[in-house]
Amino acid sequence: MISTLHSIGKISLKMNQVTLTKLVIEVSRHWLLAQLVVSCSAAFGQAPAISRGQEILLPFKQQLMQSLQEGLQESPVAALDICRIKAPEIASLVSSNGIRVGRSSHKLRNQANLAPAWVNPVIQDYLDTPDDRSPRIVTLDDGSNGYIEAIILQPLCTVCHGENISQPVLDVLAEYYPGDQATGFAVGELRGVFWAVFPAE
Ligand code: HEC
Repeated sequence: MISTLHSIGKISLKMNQVTLTKLVIEVSRHWLLAQLVVSCSAAFGQAPAISRGQEILLPFKQQLMQSLQEGLQESPVAALDICRIKAPEIASLVSSNGIRVGRSSHKLRNQANLAPAWVNPVIQDYLDTPDDRSPRIVTLDDGSNGYIEAIILQPLCTVCHGENISQPVLDVLAEYYPGDQATGFAVGELRGVFWAVFPAE
């Protein structure tokens, strides 16, 4: 009798464990689902701000690339000069009416491109989670939107940011950017970010 009771107790204990495991699975399924819904709706809610950020940055990116390519057709050193002079000009041309744009990096060439404080945590996040280089929206203290996009190194960029930079380019870099940290990058690596600030709509 005692042993029967004992085994019944064992069975019910086992059942309890099964029920508990099932419960845990159920709860975590719901939790995961809830998380998924939260993250989807966050991404969905941010979609207009992301498109606006992309739209604002487009002329900045296009003009930078155009200047770079025009210069490179002549020589890397000519391209360097164009980049050095034109890049800050283009950034200020695109900035107006509460809109500001810029480029920054964790390894800067030009200290004038130092990131605004709200950009740094996102750069760090891109470095920590290389699998997620999706654009980000940050709501700033004054309620405006901050948009950030990763810049990945392309083969074209290695001429001035890569591992084997030619001596003439190195000489010009040393002349204008004595504290240059933006060399030694490999293709596919995070080179930095584009950022934009614009009023919330
Ligand atoms: C011809 C040389 C040259 C090439 C090629 C080049 N860059 Fe640069 N890059 C520069 C110079 C010079 C600066 C500093 C210009 C400035 O003051 O904004 C710079 C600055 C930057 C910055 C701003 C952050 C910082 O370090 O100051 C980023 C980001 C950047 N380059 C990314 C790229 C990417 C991506 C490519 C390829 C598509 C590229 N560059 C190709 C010369 C070059």
